[in-house]
Amino acid sequence: MSRRRQVYEGKAKILYEGPEPGTLIQYFKDDATAFNAQKKGTINGKGVINNRISEYVFTRLAHIGIPTHFIRRLNMREQLVRQVEIIPIEVIVRNVAAGSLTKRLGIEEGEPLPHTLIEYCYKDDALGDPFVSEEEIACFNWASHEEMQDISSMAIRINDFMSGMFAAIGIRLVDFKLEFGRIWDQDFSRTILADEISPDGCRLWDMVTGEKLDKDRFRRDLGGEQEAYQEVARRLGLLQDDNGPGEVFDLSAHRGRLRTPAKPKK
Ligand code: TMP
Repeated sequence: MSRRRQVYEGKAKILYEGPEPGTLIQYFKDDATAFNAQKKGTINGKGVINNRISEYVFTRLAHIGIPTHFIRRLNMREQLVRQVEIIPIEVIVRNVAAGSLTKRLGIEEGEPLPHTLIEYCYKDDALGDPFVSEEEIACFNWASHEEMQDISSMAIRINDFMSGMFAAIGIRLVDFKLEFGRIWDQDFSRTILADEISPDGCRLWDMVTGEKLDKDRFRRDLGGEQEAYQEVARRLGLLQDDNGPGEVFDLSAHRGRLRTPAKPKK
């Protein structure tokens, strides 16, 4: 690791300088945190699975024309991405009531929402990523009006696409979080999807049993987080399904057995 410069370390990922200017290497850790890092733990093999799931989702989103920072997966835990200036807003998209929405408004978990909700939080760990309005975002110049239009329209397209993608494998996309970044070309910037999309930042429920297949298993001490993440990867067709029923995957023993995705069609 000493051969390259660390640019940033977050709760679940590390960013290293990439091989070319304007690129970064995104390393996925097994570390898991919740409630603004008040709860900390490890989910064995999570980094490997999230790297693979995020690669798959970003590649599919690129196919429908969503610009993303993803370039290619490098190995089990790393992907090459474009360096962006992160817009300091977490974009949360909700289809079904869960998590902080149920606490804040007293709505029952599992209640389908009359229409998709988009919420924004200001990315600031010290403040606990507070909920912010579009007016506050504009007032403090965290994102321009044009950027917010791009962000909300991409968020809706991403939600429509991912809802269908997960429904096809028997999973309800309850909610998820997105992050966007700016790419500068002289004085002009373009907004692109950044960060990751994985069970760390999505709520994914089995459509038949309602079982939670995401980080709520860790947040709520439900157990079985490793199996839940693997189940999502398996249903997406990303893990070779050759282990016996009930057997726990040992990812260290599965080195190189993750399938390579199809090349994006131009
Ligand atoms: P919430 O119900 O806790 O506000 O979370 C909504 C969705 O956003 C959920 O799928 C988890 C995700 N999320 C993150 O990925 N990171 C965060 O810091 C927060 C607060 C939520």
